[in-house]
Amino acid sequence: MKRFGDFTAVDGVSFSVPAGTVLGMLGPNGAGKTTTVRMMTTLSAPTSGTARINGFDVHDDPDAVRRSMGLTGQAATVDELLTGRENMRMIGGLYGIGRKALKERTEQLLHQFSLTDAGDKTVREYSGGMRRRIDLAVSLIAAPPVLFLDEPTTGLDPHSRNELWDVLRGLVAAGTTLVLTTQYLEEADQLADRIVVIDAGRIIAEGTPLELKTQAGAASLITTVTHPADLQAARTVLRTVVDDVFIDEHARTLTVPAGGLADLTRVAALLDESGIAIDDLGLSRPSLDDVFLSLTGHKADRTVTTTDSDSVSEEGASA
Ligand SMILES: Nc1ncnc2c1ncn2[C@@H]1O[C@H](COP(=O)(O)OP(=O)(O)OP(=O)(O)O)[C@@H](O)[C@H]1O
Ligand SMILES: [Mg+2]
Repeated sequence: MKRFGDFTAVDGVSFSVPAGTVLGMLGPNGAGKTTTVRMMTTLSAPTSGTARINGFDVHDDPDAVRRSMGLTGQAATVDELLTGRENMRMIGGLYGIGRKALKERTEQLLHQFSLTDAGDKTVREYSGGMRRRIDLAVSLIAAPPVLFLDEPTTGLDPHSRNELWDVLRGLVAAGTTLVLTTQYLEEADQLADRIVVIDAGRIIAEGTPLELKTQAGAASLITTVTHPADLQAARTVLRTVVDDVFIDEHARTLTVPAGGLADLTRVAALLDESGIAIDDLGLSRPSLDDVFLSLTGHKADRTVTTTDSDSVSEEGASA
C-alpha cells in the first residue's frame, strides 16, 4: 500500500510474476501504476507491505534489487545533451562495467535497437521513437534479469510501437522477466502473459488477455445493409453462422458476436453470394473503456476513496 498524506494511491495490490514471463499492469491515468512500479524498484518506500524482486526484498536488500533490475520510467531518464553512446557509457560506468565489456555491450544494444548510426548524435536530436529506444537500451546495459517499463510506447506512432514490441518480445524470448504498465489494452494483449487491471489503486481484475477480453465481452461484427427491406434476408444468412443476431432497423445494422477476421471474411462472402447489398461491414473490438465499463459498471474515473487496510503486499518477480 502507498499513501500520500491521507490519500491512498495503491491499496492491496498483490501479484507475482514467474521468471521469463510478462506481466502487464493496465489502468487509466492516476490508477497507481507508476506508484506501484516505484515501490517495486526501490524508488519509493511502501507505506505497508513489501515486494520481492528476483528473490530480494525491496526493504531488506535494496542494492540486490537494483542489481537485478532495469527500469525505463515514464519520463525519459537519459541526458539529452549527451549522445546515445555517451549515455550508455555513463550509465554502464555507474554499474561498474569494465571498459571493453561496456564498449561491446553498447554496440550490441545500439545495433539491437537500430541506433548504431544515430549513436553519435545527441539525444536532443532523436525522434520520440528513438528516445524510447535509447531509454530502453540504457536500462538494459547491465543485462538485468528483470525489467520494468512504465508506459514504454505512450506517444509513439503505430510503426514505432510495433518495432518496440518486437524488441521486447526478443528480450523475453531470451529470458528477461518483464513488468510493463500501459493504458492500452492492445499493448497488454500483444505482450503480456498475464494482466492485472488497476483502477483507483486497486486490482479490479486479473487474468490472461483472453480471459479479460472474454469478461469485457467479445468482439462484434456489424453489418449495415443498403436497403432496409433486406434486413430479414441478411438475418437468415447470418444465422447460418451464428445464433445471435441483433437487428437495429433504424440504423439498418445487424450485430453478431465475432471471433475475429475469419468471421468477417466468411460473412462478407455469404452476403455477397446471396446478393444482399451492404454499405458497411466491420469488426468492433472491446476497448479498455469497455473492460472498465464491464468490470466496474462505470467509466474509468479519477475519483478515489481513501480506505484503511492493514497488511498488503506488492510482490514482484521472483526467479
Ligand atoms: N508524490 C505524490 N504525492 C501525492 N500524490 C501522488 C504522488 N505520486 C502519485 N500521486 C497520486 O497517486 C495516484 C496514482 O498515481 P500514479 O502516478 O501511480 O498513476 P498512474 O497509474 O501511473 O497514472 P498515469 O497513467 O497517468 O501515469 C494519482 O492520483 C496521483 O495523483
Ligand atoms: Mg504513470
